[in-house]
Amino acid sequence: MARTKIALIGGGMIGGTLAHLISLKELGDVVIFDIAEGVPQGKALDIAQSGAVEGHDCTLRGTNAYADIEGASVCIVTAGVPRKPGMSRDDLIGINLKVMEQVGAGIRKYAPNAFVICITNPLDAMVWALQKASGLPRNMVIGMAGVLDTARFQHFLAEEFRVSVQDVSAFVLGGHGDDMVPLVRYSTVGGIPLPDLVKMGWIRQDRLDQIVDRTRKGGGEIVGLLKTGSAYYAPAASALAMAEAFLKDKKRVLPCAAYLNGEYGVKGLYVGVPVIIGAGGTERVVEIDLNSAERAMLMKSIESVKGLVDACIKINPQLG
Ligand code: APR
Repeated sequence: MARTKIALIGGGMIGGTLAHLISLKELGDVVIFDIAEGVPQGKALDIAQSGAVEGHDCTLRGTNAYADIEGASVCIVTAGVPRKPGMSRDDLIGINLKVMEQVGAGIRKYAPNAFVICITNPLDAMVWALQKASGLPRNMVIGMAGVLDTARFQHFLAEEFRVSVQDVSAFVLGGHGDDMVPLVRYSTVGGIPLPDLVKMGWIRQDRLDQIVDRTRKGGGEIVGLLKTGSAYYAPAASALAMAEAFLKDKKRVLPCAAYLNGEYGVKGLYVGVPVIIGAGGTERVVEIDLNSAERAMLMKSIESVKGLVDACIKINPQLG
């Protein structure tokens, strides 16, 4: 049986980390595409050589030609520019929208049957633009944000409660922006919902509010520390969890930017919601019950996403 081929569109910090992780996990052969000449080739060669030490047999190839992604089962898109200190994700829209148009055309031509995971920011608008530009079915184009935002929330909670991160489950809804919605009611430590832990005296409400706020600004915190770019280890790991769910038909329930067709009262936008990912791509959007405060926060987040999509349509009316 032919080995699975995974195409990484963008071979920068996240793309390189993805290539390394895919090889370590032996998830498939990797093609790294980038417009920068030499960079994807150099990273592919470097990681391939690590195989001699790690004992993996994955084939890695770097390329500047879209034709080389032909036959990929999964495409993970990080092409574009990342944030620098002082920039919001939304500041990237002008440059990265054009990149999504090019990437979409490449995928449409050479990997039309792939499951496509977009990471490029501003995420909720870029995944929308990528689906439009590629013309691929909406269930096969998805955005990575919720897994990362949830991982940040889980990490902060595990640190606060001094428990294993494996026993913390968290839930984040909405767009990948500072008004994302960490859902405290659906987040648990050892199965105990956070509001109950407040009642039990394990944490004060104002401390929990601080953690929620830190989660919302989690990406910016790392940009501020790195100064030259944005996070890449946790984003790569998060996208890979989604790719693995598809490749192994795991039916995982993961928060992702998914196309909404009436769910949560939203039509025609990509928004962060829990979905089931299996061999059919996004197989189901899970609609959970929200109270009025949670719904109001989600609606505010959706309005921001809508604003970004409108800005894309203004730049390229053909996308509308
Ligand atoms: N086609 C293909 N690759 C491109 C294009 C394009 N049109 N334009 C830029 N690239 C490549 C760059 O050459 C670079 O190697 O995309 C890569 C981006 O890598 P980094 O700058 O290292 O950015 P990274 O940290 O990987 O983040 C990528 O993910 O989280 C988001 O905000 C982040 O939008 C950013 C993206």
